[in-house]
Amino acid sequence: MLKARKLVVELGGNTILHNIDFKIHESELIGILGPSGSGKSTLLMALNGFRPAKEGSVIIDGKDLYEHFESFKSDIGFVPQDDIVPSALKVERVLQYAAELRLGDLPPETRSARVAGVIRLLGLSDRKDVRVSSLSGGQRKRVSVGVELLSRPRMLFADEPTSGLDPALERSLTEAFKRLTEDGNSVIVTTHIMSSLSLYDRLAVVVGGRLAYFGPPDEIKDYFKVSDFTDIYTRLDEMAPDKWHTRLQGSPQAQYLA
Ligand SMILES: Nc1ncnc2c1ncn2[C@@H]1O[C@H](COP(=O)(O)OP(=O)(O)O)[C@@H](O)[C@H]1O
Ligand SMILES: [Mg+2]
Repeated sequence: MLKARKLVVELGGNTILHNIDFKIHESELIGILGPSGSGKSTLLMALNGFRPAKEGSVIIDGKDLYEHFESFKSDIGFVPQDDIVPSALKVERVLQYAAELRLGDLPPETRSARVAGVIRLLGLSDRKDVRVSSLSGGQRKRVSVGVELLSRPRMLFADEPTSGLDPALERSLTEAFKRLTEDGNSVIVTTHIMSSLSLYDRLAVVVGGRLAYFGPPDEIKDYFKVSDFTDIYTRLDEMAPDKWHTRLQGSPQAQYLA
């Protein structure tokens, strides 16, 4: 459904992403992992077209995203890393306003049902009458995710949605993302947290702007020769990023790229 082809991103005169290739199918939950500063946010914004790559292309259903960005806009939801939602309002109100803005064509009952559904899905039921300004960072993040979910985008991109959550909430939000993919949607999230990884259909590991791994979670430990997911970061330090890129190209996992 989505193919990234030889993406190269340059920012401030530096090459931030080098030749990123992979493909994503419908109904997949994709995790983009990697250390801080490795290029996760940059990759996410190149994939969703909010900050196109300098070279290469993103092909969705055979069409070039960058050339047809306007026509894809309703298919794409994006929750940036530093999101802002109006803060004096209560959670349910914020979602209602967002629904009115984005789904003005739908009957009010349908909009209310969407809002209720999003609140349930994101585990915000006991927070719906709380002002957004009184929420924790993680709860606020869930409201931002909720705003994007109202329009049921085919592809949801979220930058570090689970950062700042305790392990149980991190798990439940990842499970909520997984449930979203069951209706044919794809969810692509960045994270530096090495837990709940088995819920993902594909993991992309970025290091120094290179793709070091792309494939299912049950092959990643063998690939990095680690017994614990958290040891992957240590392993990444043991070899230069471009060597990791070469290793991936020559590995059985290269089948997942093209
Ligand atoms: N606007 C920018 N101009 C120049 N360099 C940038 C810019 N944004 C990000 N970078 C650099 O690109 C690299 C990757 O950043 P980013 O994608 O935000 O990483 P991550 O999300 O993995 O923490 C970092 O080295 C960062 O300093
Ligand atoms: Mg980031």
